[in-house]
Amino acid sequence: MPKLGVNIDHVATLRQARGGKVPSPKLAASEAQKGGADGITLHLREDRRHIQDFDLGEVRKSCSLPLNLEMALHPEIIRIALNFRPEKICIVPERRQEVTTEGGLDAVKNEKILQRVIPQFKKKKIEVSLFIGPSLKQIEMARKTGADAIEIHTGHYANVHKGKHPAELLKIGKAAAFARSLGLLVNAGHGLDYENVSAICCIPGIHELNIGHSIVSRAVFVGMREAVREMKNLIRTSR
Ligand code: PXP
Repeated sequence: MPKLGVNIDHVATLRQARGGKVPSPKLAASEAQKGGADGITLHLREDRRHIQDFDLGEVRKSCSLPLNLEMALHPEIIRIALNFRPEKICIVPERRQEVTTEGGLDAVKNEKILQRVIPQFKKKKIEVSLFIGPSLKQIEMARKTGADAIEIHTGHYANVHKGKHPAELLKIGKAAAFARSLGLLVNAGHGLDYENVSAICCIPGIHELNIGHSIVSRAVFVGMREAVREMKNLIRTSR
């Protein structure tokens, strides 16, 4: 059964809308843990639109789950991440104009910088994942640059036909099998929700799903603990 990493960025989005202290990402993390989350994911963006630097330490103190820091290949963020030492990082592309992380990382184009940055994290025993599309070329590069894992971008799957597109599922399944054959851990995320998650869970060998927006949206009505519990139940009963 895939593990569930709960992305709490949009709790911070709501807080930043008024610039105050609520709702609190640290409380969201501890409630997600009580609901059965296996990990907490947060993205420190260069423009700090949601998660702020101080959130990292506060979330660390509020729950005992492994933390997965999503980050772009930006010198300041790399430095912060190396000092913070999350259990895992996921390297993502970042553009200021985008609403969310719209595409996967081009690992081929970024080979040189990945070759330089990944060993710095591995030296600190931080697991490194690359957020990439289901492309065999990108997966080969993930392996070549020494990443431990890939996170397959499921945004396209989620967008087409409300996540019921067999061709997209097939592509993700093939990518997952290829990555596993190279010894990479396979995670998946982006745009996953209570309706489209089950088909992804049926793909063999998916290690972890990272889900944010749909869980936080549900939490507005039922609370974080219950929203996570419901997603965990779906994942558990999908296969
Ligand atoms: N995985 C990665 C790498 C992401 O950048 C995001 C969005 O921050 C997610 C997963 C979660 O996506 P969503 O909020 O659509 O569930």
